[in-house]
This record gives sequence, structure tokens and C-alpha cells, in this order.
Amino acid sequence: MSLHIGDIAPNFSIETTQGHIDFHNWAGDSWVFFFSHPADFTPVCTTEMGRTSQLVEEFRNRKTKPLGLSTDSVAEHLKWIADVNDTQNTDLQFPIVADPDCKIAKLYDMIHPSESDTAAVRSVFIIDPDKKIRLTMTYPMSVGRNFDEMLRVIDALQLGDKRHIATPADWLPGGKVIIPPSINNDEAKKLFPEGWDELRPYLRLTQAS
Ligand code: BEZ
Repeated sequence: MSLHIGDIAPNFSIETTQGHIDFHNWAGDSWVFFFSHPADFTPVCTTEMGRTSQLVEEFRNRKTKPLGLSTDSVAEHLKWIADVNDTQNTDLQFPIVADPDCKIAKLYDMIHPSESDTAAVRSVFIIDPDKKIRLTMTYPMSVGRNFDEMLRVIDALQLGDKRHIATPADWLPGGKVIIPPSINNDEAKKLFPEGWDELRPYLRLTQAS
């Protein structure tokens, strides 16, 4: 199944390392960072799981719950988590979905058959509290994700929702943001009383936090 930005993230019911979850109930009114990786006991995945665990406070500050997935069993995940904790100096507490029959991986189009019929690629779904998919990303098996970017894009989405703005290339929190062309200057005066720099009528930059 091919999922797109704006779709409702399909619900599922599954075993995880933290017990059985109904995905939508588990997500509640939080954002979700749902990410797959190819397999337990593999090097790149070990660093990614460790990094997510190290950043759990950063995710919490953004009211975002991490949820991992690989096509291995709960028993394998639990053994592997001990290695992740040991090698990455962390204490992994977020759930990892056990998906040995690839049910959820197929539902979320995480299996790319030219790569593998049984292992997921590195997919990311950022899902908002309305269960809407707000971002999708796909990385190959051989490239670990940049977790600063995962947090940055959550910041950009949340600020965009709060202040009706878009973010420019390489935006970082605190940087100038874009007033979208869908907001005319009269509306912009109300939303951004501090004003803006108009480089072009379609390119207006302001400060918002
Ligand atoms: C890894 O996590 O290191 C990995 C897993 C599957 C294929 C390639 C790399």
C-alpha cells in the first residue's frame, strides 16, 4: 500500500517490546515518529536505535512518541535491545513493533522488493495527533538517518501549524520563516504585526516562534 502525506495513518494492532498496542490508541493525542529498520543485530540499525533512545527527552519535549519496527520477533528485539543499550550507552524504553510476517511493513510500504522481500528499508512516518501522515522519508539500508533532521522537521511542522508559516531551506529553530503566498498582505499584518522583509511579493520572511 502506498501512503501519502495527508493520508490517515492506517491503524493496526500488534505485539511490541512494550506489550500489545492498538496503534491509534497508543498514539493518543501525541505526534508519532514511526520508523522501520531492516533487522535486529545489524550495525547501522543498532546505532539508529541507540540514537533514538538517547534523544527520547527531545522527542518528549515535542510531544512525540517514537515507535520502531523491524521484521523480527519480540524475543529477538528484547535480546538485541540489550546490545543496543550496552554499545550505545543508553536505556531504550520506547516500543519496537515485532513484525516477523511483514504485515505492518507491507501495510506501510516499507518492503521494497528490489532490496529485500523480507526486511524493511529505513522508512519514516511523522504522524500528527489527528493521525494524519505529515512526512514520509525513505532511506536505503546502508545509510543511517540524521536524527537532528528528524527533530528539525518535527519542529518545522509544529511551528507551521501554530504560526501559519512555512520554513526555508536549511531552517533551524529561531531562524526566519516564510509567510506562505496563500496569506495576503492584509491577513499577514494581523498574523505578523512585527512585519516582514519582502524580497519578492511571493517571498516574505519574518520571525516567528
Ligand atoms: C545495518 O543495519 O547495518 C544494515 C542492515 C541491513 C542491510 C545493510 C545494513
